[in-house]
Amino acid sequence: MRYPLPMPFGWFQVAWPDEVPAGKAVPLYYFGRHLVAWRGEEGTPHLMDAFCPHLGSHLGYGLGEDGSHGGNVSGCNLVCPLHNWVFDGDGNVVEVPYSERLNKRAKVRSYPVVERNGAMFAWYHPTDEAPKWEIPEVPELNDHPEFTKTYRKHYKVKTHWQEIAETVADAAHVQQHLVEFEKNLGIEPGTSPKPKVEEYSTTFPDSRMRFYQPFPTPRGLVEGRIDTDSCGPGHAVTWFTGLVDTITLGCAIPVDQDTTELRMTFAVRDLGDEALTTSVAEAFVEGIAGQTVEDVPIWENKAYVVKPALSDADGPIMKFRKWAAQFYAEGLDHIDRDQYEPAAPV
Ligand code: FES
Ligand SMILES: [Fe+2]
Repeated sequence: MRYPLPMPFGWFQVAWPDEVPAGKAVPLYYFGRHLVAWRGEEGTPHLMDAFCPHLGSHLGYGLGEDGSHGGNVSGCNLVCPLHNWVFDGDGNVVEVPYSERLNKRAKVRSYPVVERNGAMFAWYHPTDEAPKWEIPEVPELNDHPEFTKTYRKHYKVKTHWQEIAETVADAAHVQQHLVEFEKNLGIEPGTSPKPKVEEYSTTFPDSRMRFYQPFPTPRGLVEGRIDTDSCGPGHAVTWFTGLVDTITLGCAIPVDQDTTELRMTFAVRDLGDEALTTSVAEAFVEGIAGQTVEDVPIWENKAYVVKPALSDADGPIMKFRKWAAQFYAEGLDHIDRDQYEPAAPV
């Protein structure tokens, strides 16, 4: 087993809203399941299991009415491409076009969906329990007059969700990125003051990280902060303040137990000058993207160490893991090794 960690439950970003336009169905694969996201012609978004309970057609594939591929949305319903059974947004069959009777057993699992902060979220729980919290609204990500339009990045990583999320608590690793930052600016690596975790507090479902991080610049040190508020496993808002004020919505979503997608949405505080703001925003987004890309081979090739040998100057790794474990419905009692390693190289 690559990871002993179950898939977490929570709200997860399955798409950006415009990826699921009105009247369209889109095949997706998350939570180890084939899924179909679709939007009624009136605009309501839905996420359902993909396979028709009649004879198993994928509801997100087939020949669309206009000749394009994709399931057929009709009004506020989804029509199966194989025999045209009609399903509503809750996954109930509402019409069998060649029969008077409906088979009431023919129900497709549907997932609660919310569109917020420029993203489309679905609630996943392995045993279908109802949502246990709501996603907070973040004004800066909702056409805020003082912030730029949003920028996006999207990654798929061969690792478990927890390994990516742990980065928030890994202060010593954040420092590694700072060294890269210094090198790029021609500053002696390692000469900046150490970043400092000022606060890390956790509840259910939130966690709150307050991180003091001075940024080296050619004009000297600039006070700065990296503050992250997570709401469940799939919604983390990070504020980078100091050099420029930027906000990042980081949404990790399990594709399956060993694979995670990471979607990031960025907005930068408007500097009053459009060209300057755009260049700062693009540089910032590329900087964060570059750091993420650097981390991918680390995440994909590392072992999951159950009882890590930590130093007293490490970040609150174990406190983070305790927070993370709250989202595992199956628990962690089955863990019986000290370390879980990648497969042998081929
Ligand atoms: S398989 Fe879907 S209607 Fe028959
Ligand atoms: Fe990193």
